[in-house]
Amino acid sequence: MAILVTGGAGYIGSHTVLALLERGDDVVVIDNLSNSSRESLSRVEALTGKTLTLYVEDVLNRDALKTIFEQHKITDIIHFAGLKSVGESVQKPIEYYENNVNGSLILLDEMLSAGVKNFIFSSSATVYGNSEIIPLHEGCKVGGTTNPYGTSKLMIEQILSDVALANPELRITCLRYFNPVGAHPSGKIGEDPNGVPCNLLPYITQVAIGKLTCLSIYGGDYPTKDGTGVRDYIHVMDLASGHLAALDHKDKGASFKKFNLGTGVGYSVLDLIAAFENASGISVNYKIVERRPGDIAECWSDSSLAAQELGWKATRKLDEMMRDSWNWQQKNPNGYLE
Ligand code: NAD
Ligand code: WQD
Repeated sequence: MAILVTGGAGYIGSHTVLALLERGDDVVVIDNLSNSSRESLSRVEALTGKTLTLYVEDVLNRDALKTIFEQHKITDIIHFAGLKSVGESVQKPIEYYENNVNGSLILLDEMLSAGVKNFIFSSSATVYGNSEIIPLHEGCKVGGTTNPYGTSKLMIEQILSDVALANPELRITCLRYFNPVGAHPSGKIGEDPNGVPCNLLPYITQVAIGKLTCLSIYGGDYPTKDGTGVRDYIHVMDLASGHLAALDHKDKGASFKKFNLGTGVGYSVLDLIAAFENASGISVNYKIVERRPGDIAECWSDSSLAAQELGWKATRKLDEMMRDSWNWQQKNPNGYLE
């Protein structure tokens, strides 16, 4: 019996694989390494003292999936594999829909043929678009996504809902992540963005370590407490434990479920900089510039449904997120390259 983790070599996948191995699960990973390296999983094995099986393959490759389902008794699938850059998705919509939507369709089709019943999907708070209701709860309207990446997540959620309706024996869970940050406390695994980071915290840590010179804060005139954008930052280890909770909950409830995974607390860009400076002792050079197109003023979660139904709650606070991100950055100034 094993859990198939697609995209398991990536940022959130590697932390979740670590948590699965630590609790004794057998793990099979399929990852094409398009945005990751084997090194993350080698480090996961070293940290846990356990081994996993890695297939360096694409989820679009049906034959590879068939082989995996033949070779291993897969009971559950956690589907992280996908392209995730909002800006790139606007430039390359076909690539994003092909990889994210078609990849999910092929995986689901092969999963049904193999008789696997449990599926957990990496969704995103982005499916809520620019909601007027804050905090966001699972009953809020979805839609109004402003880029192909976000729309691909929305489309996959719809597909999953339809597949669950047609196959009531399935247990499909969409986990809508808010803003994942942080790293394993060892500093051995963490987020390793390609090129100049698009997300806030990796940008801050790269300014702090001297790889980048100045953080541009996108907008200082939002209707928020200090004019900068507010988000719900969640430690990646809390996200990992959310997946374990969803796995444990699989036999309960409806065939299609969706949960927010956030802390329920919103912090502004300036809050994040202050918390980072406090944790690292380094002052971050920044300037306030124009708003970034497509950004929203604020976004944070009501994650009480996950607390009630999954018995899961994020426990790590902002200072721990900053400490662990900085620890990872300091120990791996060039990510997994060294
Ligand atoms: P990541 O890029 O670090 O991990 C994704 C992994 O999937 C990578 O290892 C990549 O090589 C692999 N992959 C991509 N396409 C593949 C394919 N066709 N076949 C096989 N492997 C493939 O990203 P992450 O931050 O760990 O995100 C994981 C999932 O969570 C993604 O689906 C992402 O959209 C979703 N998500 C991420 C965030 C975030 O801010 N990081 C927020 C919400 C949702
Ligand atoms: C956070 C805040 C920016 C960078 C994105 C995706 C979303 C999800 C998570 C996958 C905002 C500000 C940022 C910078 C800045 N991913 N910022 N300077 O935009 O909330 O969410 O990642 O599903 O879909 O859209 O995250 O980290 O880019 O931005 O001022 O250099 O930091 O304006 O207020 P975002 P982020």
